[in-house]
Amino acid sequence: MNTDNTTVQAKARHTAKQNGPESAPSQKRSHRLVNKENRNTVGKKNVENPKMRCEEVSVFYDNGATKAINAVSLDIGSNEVISMIGPSGCGKSTFIRCLNRMNDTIDGCRVEGRIFLEGKNIYDKDVDVVPLRAQIGMVFQKPNPFPKSIFDNVAYGPRIHGLVTNRSETEELVEKSLVRAGLWNEVKDRLDQPGTGLSGGQQQRLCIARTIAVNPEVILMDEPCSALDPIATAIIEELIDELRRDYSIAIVTHSMQQASRVSQRTAYFHLGDLIEIGPTEQIFLNPLHQLTQDYITGRFG
Ligand SMILES: Nc1ncnc2c1ncn2[C@@H]1O[C@H](COP(=O)(O)OP(=O)(O)OP(=O)(O)O)[C@@H](O)[C@H]1O
Ligand SMILES: [Mg+2]
Repeated sequence: MNTDNTTVQAKARHTAKQNGPESAPSQKRSHRLVNKENRNTVGKKNVENPKMRCEEVSVFYDNGATKAINAVSLDIGSNEVISMIGPSGCGKSTFIRCLNRMNDTIDGCRVEGRIFLEGKNIYDKDVDVVPLRAQIGMVFQKPNPFPKSIFDNVAYGPRIHGLVTNRSETEELVEKSLVRAGLWNEVKDRLDQPGTGLSGGQQQRLCIARTIAVNPEVILMDEPCSALDPIATAIIEELIDELRRDYSIAIVTHSMQQASRVSQRTAYFHLGDLIEIGPTEQIFLNPLHQLTQDYITGRFG
């Protein structure tokens, strides 16, 4: 965290050096920050071409006793990477889990509001969550390959969703997915070996291959690199950037460096409220809300 904050501040100083002090937001601010007591979202929540649209989403745990997300409205654009940042416990995981109805699996959890995928409310009664979770795939913090071979880890989804009908189609799709996930060359000679035998970074790419094998529209990632070393992290970050061409990606991260490297927009959460949303560079270099400013400069979290 400290490294990140130092880097963000260094980046601001570097920009200032290059362009003169006027452009350094931390030195000369052209606007007053929204004060801490104001919990309405600042910034542009909507985009022109949304893949998903969240309206007034609230989440309660413990049968309504605790509110973890408070009336959040936000779009996820097509072909964009959007980062969700904020202090531990602010509701990032809770919010991202709403996007493919993973909270349905938690006892005593209730989601209110509307979440649309290309205009269709995913919380409508007629929505089947099994195909929905293929359309909106998820990659978790800890790589979680199935206790199956590398091949079967990738082939499993396409088989149960009926995307392949014979062996050669399955082989083709497995290869294509592993190539796209940047893992093919490392595993092509040992596809029949267990997925759990791969390194952490390879397992995470296997999980990404498994997610893209079922032809999703959106990929959700909850701290996908937090268990990985810097080299594996760099590989996944490059992959995220490449995947943006075909998918919309929402990523939760504690690394501000990572958010600035991979995402075009960033959402800052604080105690269940979406405080600020905007272009990533603006959020880190010229935030509009005092709470965002405090977080990115290391005064909170
Ligand atoms: N299964 C659950 N049951 C009850 N409360 C929960 C549950 N999961 C999360 N919470 C509560 O909801 C709030 C938000 O938690 P969440 O895990 O979404 O935060 P987060 O921003 O992802 O935190 P972190 O950065 O530590 O992962 C916290 O107060 C947490 O205690
Ligand atoms: Mg979390």
